[in-house]
Amino acid sequence: MSVTNFSGGADAAPQSALIAGASLPKVTMPVLAEMKRQGKPICALTAYDYATSRLADEAGIDLILVGDSLAMVVLGHENTLAVTVDEMLHHTRAVRRGVRRALLVADMPFGSYHGTVGEGVGNAIRFVKEAGAEAVKIEGARVELVSALSEAEIPVVGHLGLTPQSIHRMGGYRVQARTADAVLKLRADAQALAEAGAGALVLEGVPREVAAAITAELPIPTIGIGAGPDCDGQILVFHDLVGLTFAPAAKFVRRYGDAGAVIRSAIEEYREDVERRAFPSDEESYHLPEAARRALEVTENTGTLRKV
Ligand code: KIV
Repeated sequence: MSVTNFSGGADAAPQSALIAGASLPKVTMPVLAEMKRQGKPICALTAYDYATSRLADEAGIDLILVGDSLAMVVLGHENTLAVTVDEMLHHTRAVRRGVRRALLVADMPFGSYHGTVGEGVGNAIRFVKEAGAEAVKIEGARVELVSALSEAEIPVVGHLGLTPQSIHRMGGYRVQARTADAVLKLRADAQALAEAGAGALVLEGVPREVAAAITAELPIPTIGIGAGPDCDGQILVFHDLVGLTFAPAAKFVRRYGDAGAVIRSAIEEYREDVERRAFPSDEESYHLPEAARRALEVTENTGTLRKV
């Protein structure tokens, strides 16, 4: 058992969030648009569970994405393709319980919007209805689907450039838009998504100059990852930011902590304490009430109990 909720339960606003976020308004799609207008950087982060999403929300993150990177950093898959709608829903619900202020975006996993537009809309509705997502993210220039989602009142975050669900078509995770034709195609796709109703656009793995030009031209905010500093906002994968990964980080990742080292040493210390019987101590143990103690003959340390 681990007590992490306040007395109001999971649905009550945590006290610390109320204090930390008292002056910060709830982030919505229109708030993101306003931030772009005002030139205010949008800070986004992925999260996959209650504890870390609550910490991210309380730390003032504007947009929390339940990314399909879940497949890799949480579930240990080689790429993002295997994660299912049900798995994404499960984690989105957990994140929902931790988030109060940030805009909560759910990533639509591979296969959940690659068939008909109707199937894509149906799956997106599940993220809103069953998991409390406030927007969904889809990869690629799926203009018809973005229009249909907008018609269905579901805010959409587009995702162009290096789209991890296209790993097999791209032949690996490679920086995109490196030729003049590819740059013009990316720019046209970005404009088409914005016209179709996307509320924001993730630009991943593209040259800085390309992201800067698209950001300047586009009416909706861009959120970069491996796209340089000129986007309207930035996003990182939580596990990359805190150093909870097992492979060398990509060039664009900045590690702000080494949670892997902290967790490893805490676990090793715990194991050593258990092995030398230093955990738990007497102070960390519960004791019999005095009356029960008197009624029993308790032999200290041997565990022998006899009624007297
Ligand atoms: O799944 C994910 O984490 C993402 C971000 C990298 C944008 O799509």
